[in-house]
Amino acid sequence: MQLRTRSCFKYCHAVKLKRAKRKISHRGGYKLENTFAVEIQGLTKSFKDFKALDTIDLNIKHGEKVVICGPSGSGKSTLIRCINGLEDFDEGKISISGNSQNPTKESFVSDFHIGMVFQQFNLFPHLSVIENLKLGPVKSLGLSEKDAETRARKLLERVKIPEQALKKPNQLSGGQQQRVAIARALCMEPKLMLFDEPTSALDPEMISEVLEVIVDLAREGMTMVVVTHEMGFAKKVADRIIFMDGGSIVEQNSPGMFFKKPQTARCKKFLKQILHH
Ligand SMILES: Nc1ncnc2c1ncn2[C@@H]1O[C@H](COP(=O)(O)OP(=O)(O)OP(=O)(O)O)[C@@H](O)[C@H]1O
Ligand SMILES: [Mg+2]
Repeated sequence: MQLRTRSCFKYCHAVKLKRAKRKISHRGGYKLENTFAVEIQGLTKSFKDFKALDTIDLNIKHGEKVVICGPSGSGKSTLIRCINGLEDFDEGKISISGNSQNPTKESFVSDFHIGMVFQQFNLFPHLSVIENLKLGPVKSLGLSEKDAETRARKLLERVKIPEQALKKPNQLSGGQQQRVAIARALCMEPKLMLFDEPTSALDPEMISEVLEVIVDLAREGMTMVVVTHEMGFAKKVADRIIFMDGGSIVEQNSPGMFFKKPQTARCKKFLKQILHH
């Protein structure tokens, strides 16, 4: 009896220790030797009783371009929100360039260099375009006003709207606003860019102007995760396409194989729907 109590105590102690270790590594501190830009192991996230992400394993190489697609509610946004620390998670581990983390907004921006572009632009409406771009570099990176201005102007050239610098976001088209949002993310000199359906709120004629900017960025070697149903873009840019359903990665493949030989009935059905849309 005594022996059993002791071994039970030992077991509980080991579990506690394991949990404590996981928390430490989760919060940051450990530098792991690895070659991946993003390393995700066993990522699980629930909203109350609903499992939005179920044991996701995913490694992304430096410079790799990953497109994520899948039906509405499959967990695409939750996954990339977990990667950039906007969403906490229940189980598993996420490492960015070898840093295990569950960062606060400030720390991940400065330490982990992740840029994020949302469907709805999320620009500050009361600030001009140039002020939107300068805010992060001045406040979070400690750049001088002058250096931030120079960086912001260069990026507005790069997204091909240098003439819009002094306008407010509501004076721009949707496509222009999204290009400002991309430039604003790039102002932080991210090592990894996450895009969550960057063109799905845009009119058709504005989609290509935004995709062009993202294609250019991909060609320059940026590591990217793009949630999109723009399959022409995916074919052109992606190294790998991931199909999610029900909070899981159901299949993943190179664009060639993904479209030619989908492995599961779910993916076949999904592709049929979006390609014949
Ligand atoms: N804050 C939240 N509270 C409760 N449930 C949530 C929350 N955010 C997401 N969910 C649920 O988690 C699931 C995954 O949501 P998520 O937004 O990741 O899906 P998605 O694949 O991005 O869908 P869509 O293509 O419509 O953007 C959905 O069922 C959604 O209702
Ligand atoms: Mg989404």
